Amino acid sequence: MTLQEQYDQAAPRWATRLSALGFTPAYAALMAAAAPRHTGSLCDVGAGSGALSQAFYARFGAPKRHVLLDTSAAMLQTARAALPATTQIETEQALLADYRPQCGFDVTLAGHVIEHCPSPETALQQIAALTRPGGTVILAVSHPHICQIVIWLKWRHRWFRQDDVCAMAARAGLRLSRILRFETGVPARISRGYIFTKPTQPQETPC
Ligand SMILES: C[S@@+](CC[C@H](N)C(=O)[O-])C[C@H]1O[C@@H](n2cnc3c(N)ncnc32)[C@H](O)[C@@H]1O
Repeated sequence: MTLQEQYDQAAPRWATRLSALGFTPAYAALMAAAAPRHTGSLCDVGAGSGALSQAFYARFGAPKRHVLLDTSAAMLQTARAALPATTQIETEQALLADYRPQCGFDVTLAGHVIEHCPSPETALQQIAALTRPGGTVILAVSHPHICQIVIWLKWRHRWFRQDDVCAMAARAGLRLSRILRFETGVPARISRGYIFTKPTQPQETPC
């Protein structure tokens, strides 16, 4: 079974599982720690069931432009249904590597996605490229813990030390604002939150 087929199959139960494992308060805490300069446009890379986007909406309200990007059509459907029907949201079924928006986003989210990419270093560069200068990148990334072995048996993902995430992000041109240790539940053991900014360049033109 391909990764996309695995995620298609997992989609109907993903939100319930995330919530049971304690990711809802963890993602809320991650958004509470972020202070993006602009929140008008949002891209959720590897959106899954839309949990990070939901946490963003709860903290900052609905953005004017919102893209949900995922390779799994079933996940995109679930994420779209979890967000307000009144908000205009684009769903893009594509690999991060293949997605080329016309202009950058104020905020780019990626929750446990670089773990699945062939090169996490390249994935972080692609995430940085999606973000406009002055914009914010908010990540949740798998962290070393014995439990990762059990998760790996099903998902064949990777996990990263904080220093390695920060070094890859720095090479992608991102500046670290904050690392968040989640306080409770499974996320406290297996995940870390990261907030980066993409430095402003003199020629910055928001779109
Ligand atoms: C571990 S799930 C996380 C979902 C969600 N961000 C969350 O935090 O619950 C990873 C998601 O990323 C998607 N995905 C994996 N590799 C991807 C890639 N290269 N490009 C886009 N989406 C990808 C999967 O289909 C899946 O929905």
